[in-house]
Amino acid sequence: MTPKSFYRRIEGELADLENSSLLREVPDMDHGAAKEIVFKGRDLLNLASNDYLGLAMDERLIQASAEAVREYGCGAAASRLVTGNFRIYDELERELASFKEQEDSMLFTSGYAANLAIMDSFAGRRTIVFSDKLNHASILDGIRMSGARHVRYRHNDIKHLKKRMESAKDAQSRILITDTIFSMDGDLANLEEIADICDFYDTMLVLDEAHAEGVFGGGKGIAHERGIVDRVDLHMGAFSKGFGSLGGAVSGRKELISYLRNKGRSFIFTTALPPAVIGANLAALRIVADDSSRGAKLLEMSRGLKNYLEFCGFDCGQSESQIIPVILGDNETALAARDRLIEEGIYAAAIRPPTVPEGTARLRLSLRADLTEEDLQKIRNGFAGLKAGQE
Ligand SMILES: Cc1ncc(COP(=O)(O)O)c(C=O)c1O
Repeated sequence: MTPKSFYRRIEGELADLENSSLLREVPDMDHGAAKEIVFKGRDLLNLASNDYLGLAMDERLIQASAEAVREYGCGAAASRLVTGNFRIYDELERELASFKEQEDSMLFTSGYAANLAIMDSFAGRRTIVFSDKLNHASILDGIRMSGARHVRYRHNDIKHLKKRMESAKDAQSRILITDTIFSMDGDLANLEEIADICDFYDTMLVLDEAHAEGVFGGGKGIAHERGIVDRVDLHMGAFSKGFGSLGGAVSGRKELISYLRNKGRSFIFTTALPPAVIGANLAALRIVADDSSRGAKLLEMSRGLKNYLEFCGFDCGQSESQIIPVILGDNETALAARDRLIEEGIYAAAIRPPTVPEGTARLRLSLRADLTEEDLQKIRNGFAGLKAGQE
């Protein structure tokens, strides 16, 4: 039987979380991927999902997904290496590799699983992994799992990174991994300088393009936009954000992907994604490959809104993407701002520590390409009202 002290400790910790406005609860929500979500029974403009291109509800994805279910059934029923493979899986991996201009690519059940596999496969006890302080949690978990030495450098601080590299230049192997768009701040990594440092110190370079795919570089990501594709060893991405579906992916040279297939535990020891997801992914990829104008439009819209918010006096950090933080400080202020926007018909997520540093609680706006001028006006009005209420 579980000892009583165990329960007392858990109850105490939950109470502490609640008292500091940090208790996480799954919100009472429906249609979370649609442009209009239902929150506590009310229709609200959705500025909290990562469906940046509005593809999750796109009829072409729904149709492709339904066709895949009809043909292959609901579940993959095994891991890819056993029997969980379908023709459309291979098709998706081939098309993705060609889209990303790489020799090969492979799919994972999530972006999270992809990052675990990358670290678990390529890093070991004798590896030093350099990682930006604001990298996504899946990267940190992968590094932990690998047993590698983890060297964090200050967020986007190239001088600090150089110092850290210099002091580890005798290490047996080095990997640098960075988000290309930081998910809570919407700012971008200094990729050209990072690539220079990796060349100089003979370091494997891995990019997490989860939030950039579909939006930047013709939908291919920021490495493509900046013209550094060939200087990157592994390109990690996700179908769960701009592509409106689910799954992680890694693209790169043949030998690296083959190594990943052989070593990645989160690939080997799990059931493959279901056919419905693969059907949707293929449709999403083809839509973006055929026409990347939605991403470009989204970025233009994001620049306009960020300018407006800063004009109103809000702190939007260094955002240069469709993710715009509105940094408010303490947890209560962020929660109150979220509630006030709900009254205006807008849903924006309140993000608090430990997801973001202490004292930087914020609203995280993630814009979507299908917002109309009317929607944008509603957002501007909502924030103008919020500012007036704070003064
Ligand atoms: C930068 C980054 N990498 C990886 C992931 C994980 O992707 P997924 O949600 O597909 O597991 C996320 C998303 O939460 C992310 O923001």
